[in-house]
Amino acid sequence: MDKLIIEGGRALEGRVRISGAKNAALPILAASILTSETLCVENVPRLRDVSTMCGLLTQMGLWVRQAAPGALELSGHALSNPLAPYDLVKTMRASILVLGPLVARCGHARVSLPGGCAIGLRPVDLHIKGLQAMGAEIDIAHGYLHARAQRLKGTRIVLDLVTVTGTENLMMAAALAEGTTVIENAAREPEVIDLARCLNAMGAQVRGAGSDIITIEGVDKLHGARHAVMPDRIETATFLAAATMTGGRITLEGTSAGLLDAVLDKLREAGASIAANDAEITLEAQGRPRAVSIRTAPYPGFPTDMQAQFMALDAIADGTARVTETIFENRFMHAQELKRMGADVEVEGNTAVVRGIERLDGATVMATDLRASACLVLAGLVARGETVVDRIYHLDRGYEQLEAKLSALGARIRRAA
Ligand code: EPZ
Repeated sequence: MDKLIIEGGRALEGRVRISGAKNAALPILAASILTSETLCVENVPRLRDVSTMCGLLTQMGLWVRQAAPGALELSGHALSNPLAPYDLVKTMRASILVLGPLVARCGHARVSLPGGCAIGLRPVDLHIKGLQAMGAEIDIAHGYLHARAQRLKGTRIVLDLVTVTGTENLMMAAALAEGTTVIENAAREPEVIDLARCLNAMGAQVRGAGSDIITIEGVDKLHGARHAVMPDRIETATFLAAATMTGGRITLEGTSAGLLDAVLDKLREAGASIAANDAEITLEAQGRPRAVSIRTAPYPGFPTDMQAQFMALDAIADGTARVTETIFENRFMHAQELKRMGADVEVEGNTAVVRGIERLDGATVMATDLRASACLVLAGLVARGETVVDRIYHLDRGYEQLEAKLSALGARIRRAA
């Protein structure tokens, strides 16, 4: 099982290119189900989750071809098996994103219920309710969702909770439904906007993505298209948090500051200087960051996917911070591991009180989920001595060549079996 070995104490200096966004690429790849023609997707990050999604689509009968580095061509003409089996779904919850497209394109689907997950129960009840509102009949048996619909019918859906993949699933289903669908209390994440752009390039009629009311006029068919995936705002924010912790000066290419205003505000509050244009972001920091309190919220609020990384920043910051997680019920597992590195963190319900200390101690720590892994890598970058982060297959799900990019910025980090 791979691990990362990090020697702490080095400032980060230099430039790295940000990869395409995992959480935009996954729904966009699933959108290839909606057409019998070819969807060309560029700026696709090389990640374990992307490979899993491609494997899922291939076993359904889609043709998936690497057209160039970071570019995939997906053809849905041979789609014959609308099934998402448990052995694939259990490795990636985002597999649920094939449900809406399969019902819309094939009229039926068998999709394994995603199992539990480290960070929370993460039910898919709102995905199911929305499809049922559009006329799908959905039974649950033997751990699978069995969905059927002659043709989905447009309707008004008010989501009880803001759900990112729920919004995306229903938007894709509505693209081929009969009539108009209005999704209210929709997720406003930039990845939802990117998916809508791709669907519209395929001939869909999606309006309002990025706001909390999305209107979709169903069409009979969608055609092929070419779409470049947006930059990964969480990878961007992770590198910016790292440099704020280590000190130094980094420039991130191929990304945009407009995707992460809430995070940039917090990094400036922590003492970082940030300059940005629409193609790159430069951050400069020296000395110890100031403690910053955060409270996660749906976009445009502070992203839950940056909570763990900011807990690492607060662990060595000057002052005390309160970190409140409002999206998932169990997303503090990194706290225990940080405490093993000497951090002063007290978890009380959905809030962690973090009292910053001068330096963490390097230790062998274990990653439990994708963003917890990133948190532990950032802690290792500033810890005294050597840190070994175990179980980094979590990291490989969502960060492309993280150790290579950090090494290019001067970090002493290497992968070992
Ligand atoms: C997406 O997950 C992201 N994944 C997550 O990123 C991200 O943390 C999350 O949105 C929140 O921003 C992808 O886009 C592939 P939700 P998703 O549905 O869609 C509850 C990462 O690290 N809920 O917005 O699964 C749910 O339990 C990953 O890249 C229901 O109750 O999250 C949670 O409390 C982790 N019923 C809240 O809503 C439902 O039917 C938000 O979940 C759906 C969700």
